Amino acid sequence: MQASLSPHNTMSDQQLSFPIMEDLSRTNKKSHTTSFATNKVLPIHRWVPWIAGFSSHFVKEAFDKYSHGGIVLDPFAGVGTTLLDSIVEGCDSIGFEINPYAALACRVKTAFNQIDRNQFAIEILNFETFYHQKTGSDYMPISTMPPGFKTRHTFYSRVILRKVLIIQDFMASIRNEIIRDVFRLAFASNMITFSNYSYEPSLSTRISAGKNEIDDFPVGQLIIGKLREMLEDIKWVKTIYSDKNAQATVINDTFFKYQNYLSPESIELIVTSPPYLNNYHYNRNTRPHLYWLNLAHSPKDFKKWEQENLGKYWQTVREKGTINLDLEFSLPNLEEKLAMLRALNPEKGIYGGNGWANYAATYFNDCYKLAKGVKFALKKGGIALVVIGNSILQGMMVETDHYFGQIAESVGLDLIDIQISRKERVGNSIIKSDVRVEKAKKSDKLYEAVVTLRKA
Ligand SMILES: C[S@@+](CC[C@H](N)C(=O)[O-])C[C@H]1O[C@@H](n2cnc3c(N)ncnc32)[C@H](O)[C@@H]1O
Repeated sequence: MQASLSPHNTMSDQQLSFPIMEDLSRTNKKSHTTSFATNKVLPIHRWVPWIAGFSSHFVKEAFDKYSHGGIVLDPFAGVGTTLLDSIVEGCDSIGFEINPYAALACRVKTAFNQIDRNQFAIEILNFETFYHQKTGSDYMPISTMPPGFKTRHTFYSRVILRKVLIIQDFMASIRNEIIRDVFRLAFASNMITFSNYSYEPSLSTRISAGKNEIDDFPVGQLIIGKLREMLEDIKWVKTIYSDKNAQATVINDTFFKYQNYLSPESIELIVTSPPYLNNYHYNRNTRPHLYWLNLAHSPKDFKKWEQENLGKYWQTVREKGTINLDLEFSLPNLEEKLAMLRALNPEKGIYGGNGWANYAATYFNDCYKLAKGVKFALKKGGIALVVIGNSILQGMMVETDHYFGQIAESVGLDLIDIQISRKERVGNSIIKSDVRVEKAKKSDKLYEAVVTLRKA
């Protein structure tokens, strides 16, 4: 029996049952949904929400099927779903994550075993006292807004800003580094809630989303509630974790530098989900977190992450003439698809097919690098599960999962199968944009698939 991160005292049976995958592929296996939604109620997993994260249940199922205790790798670790479950299962793991805020989340979540619960509980009490005293007096906070953090619209109201700076003052006084980082995460994972911005799903002003601005908010109470929840989670997870001493190594760098960090053929299992071909901008959407946690200092930082992000972004390649596939082998059906896309809507200039074909070509060129990295890292017989969504660009369906499978086969990996794990995905920022995209055909749906690969 493997340990499970589901606390029986807080979850109903209904919460524990998940949709069964519809099997559209060659095999007849049933599996759990890959959606991150279920993580929102699981201890520690729930600390930081992340768009397009996958579910802990999915990772557990991968362990049941494919793990024999070897090292687990997640090249696109996000907020650490795979890494945290690896620790609980007693397996060492390695995660690459380019976004420093997500990498911090991975580090803190997987360090739950190093957090002294009593000391943490005392710091929460100290915080409550400090916050009530300072907000109830004419105390002038020492902390200031991060200097590089510029927004078109006021991010925090004057009243809320004072409360936030008081919290910053307290956090700066915490001596224990890991406890300070837990506090930073508690603040950052809530910081949009009391701002004049919201996720729609990209970060935009509340006003543009038709919501009221926020003048005042019980900021301290929200953070204290979060901290208490975190303390409970740590207490609970320690009861199931027992004496296993697995380590998670978090590398805050691009996976494409894998040769600098990994030994060849050292990994038994890869469970990962790269960015989809949907131009979702993880770094821009975490700008406030990155600045307020002192992880970004200027737009230059963002440029670098943009360039190193898998697939880059449509904005960075749309004006670049013609970007072709660069694969060392030919994939006629993908080439044909890109040619069709390129020919669409020339009258729209940079918003037409050529720009999107450039973006798709860049994306698949990076998928090629990913497939080579998978081949390099996996031991013989090792398995990679890659969760990837399809795309609809300029109204045209791009079956990203199938093309990725073909690329992986072309670099010499065995393609075991492709299963649809979610039949109808929502929240794609592209499909919602009337400016850039034609209406998708009624029959075209956004889905999510699990591509299973093996190194022979
Ligand atoms: C779909 S999310 C992964 C979510 C993760 N499965 C979870 O449950 O939290 C993809 C992640 O890849 C990261 N990323 C993008 N390009 C990267 C690169 N070249 N190297 C490492 N990480 C990258 C993004 O910052 C993002 O967090």
